[in-house]
Amino acid sequence: MKITIIGAGNVGTSCASLLAQKDIVNEIILIDTKEKLSEGKSLDISQMSSIIRSNTRIFGVTNDYSKSKNSEIIIITSGIPRKKGMSRDDLANINAKIISSVTKKSIFFSPNAKLIIVSNPLDVMTYISYLTAKIDSSRVMGMGGILDTARYRFFLSKKLDCSPLDIHTLLLGGHGDTMVPLYRYTSISGIPLMEFLSEEENNVLIEKTKKGGEEIVNLLGTSAWISPSASVIQMVEAIIKNSKRIFPCSVFLQGEYKLKNIYLGVPVVLGKYGIEKIIEIKLNKKEKILLNKSFLHVKNMIQKLDLNF
Ligand code: LAC
Repeated sequence: MKITIIGAGNVGTSCASLLAQKDIVNEIILIDTKEKLSEGKSLDISQMSSIIRSNTRIFGVTNDYSKSKNSEIIIITSGIPRKKGMSRDDLANINAKIISSVTKKSIFFSPNAKLIIVSNPLDVMTYISYLTAKIDSSRVMGMGGILDTARYRFFLSKKLDCSPLDIHTLLLGGHGDTMVPLYRYTSISGIPLMEFLSEEENNVLIEKTKKGGEEIVNLLGTSAWISPSASVIQMVEAIIKNSKRIFPCSVFLQGEYKLKNIYLGVPVVLGKYGIEKIIEIKLNKKEKILLNKSFLHVKNMIQKLDLNF
């Protein structure tokens, strides 16, 4: 089993490191445009193999996509991260060209791969990758919802002084300020959240979750990478192990939730074929309005892009 990670920046390197620690794949290829970067990072990760008891081999290459040949999964982290004062949306034009170019090269050498996109603005970049790859949409997905729900679970666990593991929740929509958290679908070990927290109290945590990425950008001057890469590896693991786990991922909607021709976060079943099922849950009027707002936001960004790369 071979996994390729494009981009040896913070997210790419962290993905490689976490994946190596899991010891669930034979080979990781880390590719970057900057000479010696992925080679150095790969060597560093490889040198902890005996400590972490991992047999995964990691190879770093500069621009040589032929080394990624026949990868099972390709994780795309390329592009520029946001800096202080920037929104994810500000990255759209510059990252679109990069995503299109790396998708083309990746899919050429691994035509059967599943693609996981991490670059921002997430839903738009996943759509670009899908258009470029020209493969079934079940094999092109974006990581956003797992990270957003993980942040929400963390904030809730702090507020309620409980384990984040016991919190089950769901978020829909784009990875950004228009995400749609679902209070009604949140529970602590099966007990509905409303038994613990009023909707007003919950809204404070929702706002915190929406600004979760921004809070880190303001502290570090660049985007988060540790929890984003842990979220990616959760998707990789579900695919590799064919575990049929249900996660919110950015996927291509073709009429589900009455939305079409758009990538947006919804709950899906992940297995060896990629997105094996899109789960449609019942939404109330308020939730439908919020999801539609998120749809329009992503759609608007796509319409502003020059798609002729
Ligand atoms: C974040 C970036 C990775 O939410 O989108 O931190």
